Amino acid sequence: MQYTFAQYEESARYIRSKIGDLQPKVAMILGSGLGFMGEQVENPIAVPYGDIPHFKVSTAPGHKGQLVFGTLGGKTVAVMQGRMHHYEGYSYEEVSYAVRVLRLLGCDTLVVTNAAGCVNTAWAAGDLMLITDHMKLFLESPLRGENLPEFGPRFPDSSHLYTPALASAARSAAQALSIPLREGVYCYFPGPQFETPAEIRAFRALGADAVGMSTVPEVITAGHCGMQVLGFTLLTNMAAGILDQPLSGEEVMEAAAAASGKFSALVLECLKRM
Ligand code: HPA
Repeated sequence: MQYTFAQYEESARYIRSKIGDLQPKVAMILGSGLGFMGEQVENPIAVPYGDIPHFKVSTAPGHKGQLVFGTLGGKTVAVMQGRMHHYEGYSYEEVSYAVRVLRLLGCDTLVVTNAAGCVNTAWAAGDLMLITDHMKLFLESPLRGENLPEFGPRFPDSSHLYTPALASAARSAAQALSIPLREGVYCYFPGPQFETPAEIRAFRALGADAVGMSTVPEVITAGHCGMQVLGFTLLTNMAAGILDQPLSGEEVMEAAAAASGKFSALVLECLKRM
């Protein structure tokens, strides 16, 4: 299935009817452990995904499934409390549908956060990482199919998907808060199974610092329609095979909850500096 431009417009029109003349600038997709930031939005207007024409609902644990519009860190934001993942059965186009709708509503910046496995053996679980680039070597693109030129070109550049000026702002924010911030490459795996030790060894050799099951489809879509992007990863666990212990979704959720305080403080400080 491929969405038409008219469908994106229809979704945007419905949301517009709920938010009036509010002008969101920063779209935020909050991953595991950070969904609560949606509750910090001032003067919030919540729009459940299920009410928006053509929207899918998020089924992953800890993903609430609504858009919250309002003010956060002095910016007018559109916060996605919960994202869609390919492993839930959604196509990449469906996974990143909301990004284009938020673009139509006026957002020019996308902030993405996620939980991921740590591939870099010099780092530790609990570390925060600024995403400087990503890898998605296989599987299709969210831009596959007929191009919608209203959003962007057929063959978009991917040289600077993660906006250097926003990365600088993030570094200053982390420094100001004395929060150590790693920087590295996020590598996408579709999941839902965690990677094998052999996969992790292979992708470490290729330059991956983190592995996760989200974010990249939305960032590709955001870059295509000319949005600036800022991305953060919370490294919830050492990736498969590094420690002699099995990985679990529960471990990821617990580590995400434990780091949520410093993670949300960093994201908030970045918003203030954007
Ligand atoms: N692999 C993929 N996704 C993840 C991981 C991991 O180790 N941890 C949290 N999300």
